[in-house]
Amino acid sequence: MNKISTPSDSASKLNGQWNRRTFLASTAGLTAALATGQARGATPVAAKTKSSPTPAGELKFPRDFMWGVATAAYQIEGAANEDGRKPSVWDTFSRIPGNTANGDTGDVACDHYHRFEEDVKLMVELGVRHYRFSIAWPRIVPDGRGAVNEKGVDFYRRLADALLKHGITPHATLFHWDSPQALEDRYGSWRSREMAKDFADYCTATVQRLGDRITHWMTLNEIPCFTYLGYGVEKMPFFAPGTIVKTKQEVLQTVHHALLAHGLGCQAIRAAAPKTCRITAVANFDAVIPVTETAEDIAAAKRAFVADKYVGTTVMPMLTGRYSPETLATLGADAPKVQVGDLKTIAQPLDCLGYNGYTGQYVRAAANESGYELLKLPKDYPNIGPSWLKFTPEALYWGVRMISDALGKKDLPMCITENGCATEDTVNERGEVVDLTRIMFLKAYLRNAQRAVDEGYPLKGYFHWSLMDNFEWASAFTMRFGLTHVDYATQKRIPKQSFRWYQQLIRQNR
Ligand code: FCB
Repeated sequence: MNKISTPSDSASKLNGQWNRRTFLASTAGLTAALATGQARGATPVAAKTKSSPTPAGELKFPRDFMWGVATAAYQIEGAANEDGRKPSVWDTFSRIPGNTANGDTGDVACDHYHRFEEDVKLMVELGVRHYRFSIAWPRIVPDGRGAVNEKGVDFYRRLADALLKHGITPHATLFHWDSPQALEDRYGSWRSREMAKDFADYCTATVQRLGDRITHWMTLNEIPCFTYLGYGVEKMPFFAPGTIVKTKQEVLQTVHHALLAHGLGCQAIRAAAPKTCRITAVANFDAVIPVTETAEDIAAAKRAFVADKYVGTTVMPMLTGRYSPETLATLGADAPKVQVGDLKTIAQPLDCLGYNGYTGQYVRAAANESGYELLKLPKDYPNIGPSWLKFTPEALYWGVRMISDALGKKDLPMCITENGCATEDTVNERGEVVDLTRIMFLKAYLRNAQRAVDEGYPLKGYFHWSLMDNFEWASAFTMRFGLTHVDYATQKRIPKQSFRWYQQLIRQNR
């Protein structure tokens, strides 16, 4: 996945990319596939534990399926200089002209720090029972290591209490890209092995203080995005910390240090937790989608999956305790330097794997050395919002299935920890936001999530990205991913039409 917005990324471009024909073509294909249950020519999926057959057209989810929404600290909180918080790398990065759309920063964002009670009420109205948010390391340990800022901890205590009061389970991500600037200044953030140790100490401090209220922990969000996209070989990368390095190997080493942080973080969480807790690793990768559901293309997709750069260097070490041999062969001398015992530390037992599923790539069998061919998307292939987000609803099904099948992790529970799209959401004369594109997107993606569940894959929940429009990193406020519209000038929240749609889906659980 290339989570980089191209200059053509702007919500207004969307109109030109969608016309009646492409829309009908994509939905017609979808409807046909749904009607047959599984595409013709498909290899039957191994018999799985299916409880009761779902009546045709009735795409039910299990009673205990977790419906939620997701956000992240730097994208919504604002209050950048309050109550002892010190700068993160994203505060610094977004201040450098040219790094973010319109030069915007997360200084205020959705002002959630002051409005969290109103935002919890929105969740109550929506009907979600689960909320994934992130804790800002620079609020808890402003210098990255050392003294704990109790006022920062208090904010998350208040937030967790507000959620629990309404029966919403807090799921806290300990790192969603906003690492303390102090550690960038001290040793260059993820370039140093010390970062992993400092992260684990921050986890200990946080879990000791909040573990009585928060029992669902997620370690690092999407390792590829703050390593591969935060460090550029001889050129400026698109994400913080925004460091230019000389070799690809240096980038791979940041990936390895992040994996170590995950492993040491898991150990720290378990040791510090005052109650039984659950730990989730949050991964992102482009799902590989077999272009036809034939045995040949499915086998090709499995081969492509384990050779994928993100899967091979992040998901596989965490889940299997080794880097993918295929990926290592491709990397050659650029492969990370691994010390004895590192991989054992990295592959900690997990309670769940979170998959941030947005986009995918199509693959088919090929008579070449690798046995597969990744298909180039045609120019007119639709994306919904940023250029990296291709409309590939099957990503949710195949993303989950590949973890189970290609990595042999059939018993590892999974959750979609993020999924959503950015659309042009204007407030109409009646004060409404009728975001039909998002609803179309959700219907298609969630049908695929349901298919995974229906076939017995261990998918346990879904967190929509995002509860509300927010600071979308380098695209800043130009990409609106929310179920709730935010007017950044007044901070007024307006639930969109998709909010009502998701509310109904949760109520009916189908
Ligand atoms: C994910 C990020 C999240 C948001 C969405 C659109 O990769 O984790 O913060 O930017 O993409």
